Amino acid sequence: MASNKRLLVLPGDGIGPEVMTEVHRIINWFDHRRAVGFDVSEGLVGGASYDKHGTPVVDDVVDQAMQSDAVLFGAVGGPNWDGLDFSVKPERGLLRLRKDMGLFANLRPAVVFEGLIDASSLKPDLVRGLDIMILRELTGGIYFGEPRGVEEIKPGERRGINTEVYTTSEVERVGRVAFELAGKRKGFVHSVEKANVMESGQMWREDMQALRDREFPEIPIHHMYADNAAMQLVRQPKQFDVLVTSNLFGDILSDVAAMLTGSLGMLPSASLGASDATGRRLALYEPVHGSAPDIAGQGKANPIAMLLSFAMALRYSFDLPEDAELVEKAVSKLLDTGLRTDDIMGNGMTRVSTSAMGEALVTELDKLAV
Ligand code: IPM
Ligand code: MG
Repeated sequence: MASNKRLLVLPGDGIGPEVMTEVHRIINWFDHRRAVGFDVSEGLVGGASYDKHGTPVVDDVVDQAMQSDAVLFGAVGGPNWDGLDFSVKPERGLLRLRKDMGLFANLRPAVVFEGLIDASSLKPDLVRGLDIMILRELTGGIYFGEPRGVEEIKPGERRGINTEVYTTSEVERVGRVAFELAGKRKGFVHSVEKANVMESGQMWREDMQALRDREFPEIPIHHMYADNAAMQLVRQPKQFDVLVTSNLFGDILSDVAAMLTGSLGMLPSASLGASDATGRRLALYEPVHGSAPDIAGQGKANPIAMLLSFAMALRYSFDLPEDAELVEKAVSKLLDTGLRTDDIMGNGMTRVSTSAMGEALVTELDKLAV
């Protein structure tokens, strides 16, 4: 029996706790059935942390995250905290974790399950078999750039400022992840920016091209403007394999990619740091969807993005690719049975609750593991 893996679970706000409850089922399943065990601890983040501590994440939780083999993150934010000062908004808790843990590479795979072809807003032929990887830079760009803030220029006139900023090494380290991923997939990269209007975009393009020429000459690179990329994602999504882009463009384009798969409730993500000398790498796994306050607490949330995020943890943090595939396959089988949460409901399907979906996944895991 391998030694236990340390998992920190941060359910957060809105539907975060509901979808996380379903992950616990799967963690327990692995604990009982397979040769991997988990030491699970839980903490507060986002509005839940603000309500208790007056801050969206306390130092102790950040420290625990740094000590963990992986962090599972639900979602943060909601109308209760909309009026808060920027520095203590729920989202700041997530941004601090990403920054302090150095999670610069955010992998957001958009995969279309056959059972959900009709849930996509695009024609079946455009999305059937779709498997693309959006790689979002996660610790730089306009999310963190200085100067930032709102200043008063004169009474009644303010100026709001955010800054897009990247260094060559920041571009290169996420670029390397992109080329390495592509090498294990279909083998080409689209690098996305706005080099036509932004100097930082021009530099991004040049640095990506130079990196590719120097270190990955066997991997073709295509450069694309972000507006065109948004259009191409809904026009002909299968033209992409790995799409690497900045923090802000990645945030936007991954929501677009999510809809190709039928629902935001389907898209997982992995946020990875650099490996240290021992090969250890900090990591956080979260669904791409947010806290969805409008449906929170009603048992309507789709837990699949969260469950698939756990599968990504099995693959990228625990080096258990077969177990990751097992979970992914179980999701596929589960969808074949016709069970659907609200967001992916279709003609002739059976509408079920969040927990019924989690239970059904365990049933499929049991069947696959015999
Ligand atoms: C995401 C979310 C976050 C982001 C929010 C909650 C801060 O939209 O992970 O895509 O903008 O990065
Ligand atoms: Mg987003």
